[in-house]
Amino acid sequence: MGHAGPIAGREREIGELTAFVAAAEGRALVLRGEPGVGKSALLGVAAERAADLGQRVVRAAGVEAEAGLAFAGLHQLLHPLLADAGALEPATRAAFDIVFGRSTGEPPSAMTLGVAVLDLLALASGDVPLLLVADDAHWLDPQSAEVARFIARRLSGHAVHMAVGTRADTPSPWDGAGLPELTVPPLSAEASARLLNTTSPGLTAPVRRRILDEASGNPLALLELPAAAGPADGPELPLSRRLERLYGDRIAGLGRAERAELLRAALDGTGALPGRARRPLRAVDDVTDHYAGIIPSLDAPPVLIGHSFGGLIAQKLLGKGLARAAVAVDPAQIKGVRALPPAQLRAGFPVLGNPANRKRSVSLTPAQFRFGFGNALEPAESDALHERFTIPSPGRPLFEAAFAAFTRHSPAEVATRNPDRGPLLLISGQADHTVPDVVTRAAYKLYGDSPAVTELKQFPDRGHSLTVDHGWRAVAEYALDWLDRQGIQGHDTAHA
Ligand SMILES: Nc1ncnc2c1ncn2[C@@H]1O[C@H](COP(=O)(O)OP(=O)(O)OP(=O)(O)O)[C@@H](O)[C@H]1O
Ligand SMILES: [Mg+2]
Repeated sequence: MGHAGPIAGREREIGELTAFVAAAEGRALVLRGEPGVGKSALLGVAAERAADLGQRVVRAAGVEAEAGLAFAGLHQLLHPLLADAGALEPATRAAFDIVFGRSTGEPPSAMTLGVAVLDLLALASGDVPLLLVADDAHWLDPQSAEVARFIARRLSGHAVHMAVGTRADTPSPWDGAGLPELTVPPLSAEASARLLNTTSPGLTAPVRRRILDEASGNPLALLELPAAAGPADGPELPLSRRLERLYGDRIAGLGRAERAELLRAALDGTGALPGRARRPLRAVDDVTDHYAGIIPSLDAPPVLIGHSFGGLIAQKLLGKGLARAAVAVDPAQIKGVRALPPAQLRAGFPVLGNPANRKRSVSLTPAQFRFGFGNALEPAESDALHERFTIPSPGRPLFEAAFAAFTRHSPAEVATRNPDRGPLLLISGQADHTVPDVVTRAAYKLYGDSPAVTELKQFPDRGHSLTVDHGWRAVAEYALDWLDRQGIQGHDTAHA
């Protein structure tokens, strides 16, 4: 698959794999690491070493599309060995015939099948030792994985080694399997530089630096970003197909808060700030810093009122002690909020759901807008708001956001424990699909330890459009009354 040049770095891992295949005692080893980090490459090295030692190597890989096919993975792994099955006990052979669909009958238990597989492996490794390689094992169908785990623990006494590759960020049957593991970390800075220099000589210094920075030791990124970077030191590094899939998968594997953050970025178009397209999540910090730079020049600390992403930024500034008070209306998820209700996922889906969106400007259709923003309104009002407020924003930043989310601190971090900050009002439209009530409530809870004033006001039957639809006045008046109660008069104070 792709690049097959010399391996950069990995002295420790290769040493360990060499010892593993050479050991007289059979055993299993699980290689675990992030997508593109080089698990398959290392499994390839292990296979080469085993072949050099005269061993027989059988390779199989989990296939996402076959994850639902019972025993598909096991079939792949055992198929080359089944020629030896003739020498097995008839009952043992029958077990294979049934699970591989060559005869009908009561399927054997995982244990019976596991024992049958061990018998077959013993037979197949009678003359020369055997190395089984199971790559992408996170995609093995559960039935095969169960049997594979069973045999993986019972290889001692056989001349059989089993090397398993699995992704660190994808839940898999190999998590907590209690098997010996070899973690495959990102490449060192030195090995990264060496790999980039040999595979992409002649890059300009700034492009080279940026690729090293963005790749963060991921070999796949080091190999593919240069091709994507184009001739000039352009404003963004587009993603190749495999990288895109890599980060697409990572979106799926992200923590809920980060995922929600991406959804927010998608919906609010925050990722689309001019000149900031490459690092949309940084945009939150950039905007926050921008305001933080302006605030000291005001006569008095401002009252900050923000909606959605604006609500997140208002909280960040308040947490830094820069505001007199803040009102956050259906605010984007702050770090630490774990809820991710299905409606919120669906609200973000118009952009994230289609990889082609990285190349396009994405505009919500009226129906999508109605779901994400105008669900509490009559369709006619929602459509009118859609007409008035929706602007297309690039989809690409969202995909690149996934990239940034891996290597950087979450910009959604808010100082929730600052005891000296001004009062905070969180407003929740309880029908909001984009920032569901549970998300705002969870944010409210995060402030629970702070002695500073925090209040939650819920408006039933209001959606994400609550600040711009026919009901805006009720929200605005509540906020002003609340400020009044905090001793802050709306009319004689500087507003932001
Ligand atoms: N240490 C290395 N030196 C040089 N090239 C490498 C190194 N590690 C990996 N590569 C190359 O980087 C690319 C990605 O590596 P690989 O396919 O092994 O990743 P992976 O961890 O198996 O990813 P996935 O989880 O997607 O299967 C491949 O082209 C591989 O040849
Ligand atoms: Mg791989």
